[in-house]
Amino acid sequence: MRATRKIRWGILGTGAIAKKFGEGLKLVPDAELLAVGSRTRKTAEKFADTFQIPHRHAGYDKLANDSDVDVIYVATPHPFHMENTLMCLNAGRAVLCEKPFAINASQATRMVNAARDKRLFLMEAMWTRFLPVMAEVRQLLDQEVIGQVRLLQADFGFKGKWNRKGRLFNPELAGGALLDVGVYTVSLASMVFENPPKEISATAHIGKTGVDEQAAMLFGYDDGQSAVLHCAVRTETPQQAFIVGTKGSIRIHPQFWRATSATISVEGKKDRVLEIPLHGYGLDHQAREVMRCLRAGKLESDVMPLDESIHIMKTMDEIRAQLRLKYPME
Ligand SMILES: NC(=O)c1ccc[n+]([C@@H]2O[C@H](COP(=O)([O-])OP(=O)(O)OC[C@H]3O[C@@H](n4cnc5c(N)ncnc54)[C@H](OP(=O)(O)O)[C@@H]3O)[C@@H](O)[C@H]2O)c1
Repeated sequence: MRATRKIRWGILGTGAIAKKFGEGLKLVPDAELLAVGSRTRKTAEKFADTFQIPHRHAGYDKLANDSDVDVIYVATPHPFHMENTLMCLNAGRAVLCEKPFAINASQATRMVNAARDKRLFLMEAMWTRFLPVMAEVRQLLDQEVIGQVRLLQADFGFKGKWNRKGRLFNPELAGGALLDVGVYTVSLASMVFENPPKEISATAHIGKTGVDEQAAMLFGYDDGQSAVLHCAVRTETPQQAFIVGTKGSIRIHPQFWRATSATISVEGKKDRVLEIPLHGYGLDHQAREVMRCLRAGKLESDVMPLDESIHIMKTMDEIRAQLRLKYPME
């Protein structure tokens, strides 16, 4: 792909996060939001008017087959990630697919196999990983500034608006805390320990619609390290992450999933606070990574590799098995 030409995006689905992503793309100078696909003409037109998008498709298949589009951002509820992603890949488009990557590891594996077979770029939109503060945290861990990491504590709980039919509480839409926000904590553990956990223990409150309204997870790793994670969709928690090493600690805040700062404490030294504000919600950073990969001819990102996305789904499968939480479509 020529370095001078803009990368042309399509957005599949026009819900809450699709709008935020549309805003995020405005911050990326070499990105062009060329197309949108929605289930109805009316919603496609409305979204396209908001963002001045020239190609407006009534039907996701029409977007997938729009050969002017370089890469499609899949922004539908979790149970549709696999079918939407496969449709785009089969039509020859690169894909950035929302988190959770799929509803289970078997679906995630199908998506990854399809991308590899077709030699097309695919990435999970775990946008938190691409925030500048997170990139700094990875560097600090690599340089062992806090020694060897021993413990991670992370939580992501919020008070979702109660709606039995909505995405958060409806089992038909793979609702529940683990897949919606717990995935941020599981993915953070995967980033920090660079391995899947050896031992997993989980407990949850299953609410009246049959999905996990809150869950607590304990991971154990090969060298005795551990992660203590919480997630919730009816209870607000501090949403911070705390990484503890043999020589110090890193606290990521104000909310780790949209981090703008980190406090680094090292034994015998004064605390250092790192601050990197976001220009907007923060979704532009993952878009930049996708575009960097496309321009470099890479088929996956080193920051969010596909095998890791599969491992994260496997960890969540094990958690759900312990919770006896199965979705109707599984
Ligand atoms: N909201 C967030 O802050 C956030 C953050 C990060 C990631 N995500 C992820 O992004 C995905 C979408 O979340 P969202 O909050 O944007 O959801 P949403 O507001 O409910 O929007 C989802 C969109 O998906 C499409 N869709 C297709 N089939 C659908 C169905 N059966 N029911 C409802 N919508 C359907 C619709 O677009 P059309 O009508 O245009 O077809 C709808 O507007 C989820 O996987 C979520 O985990 C969300």
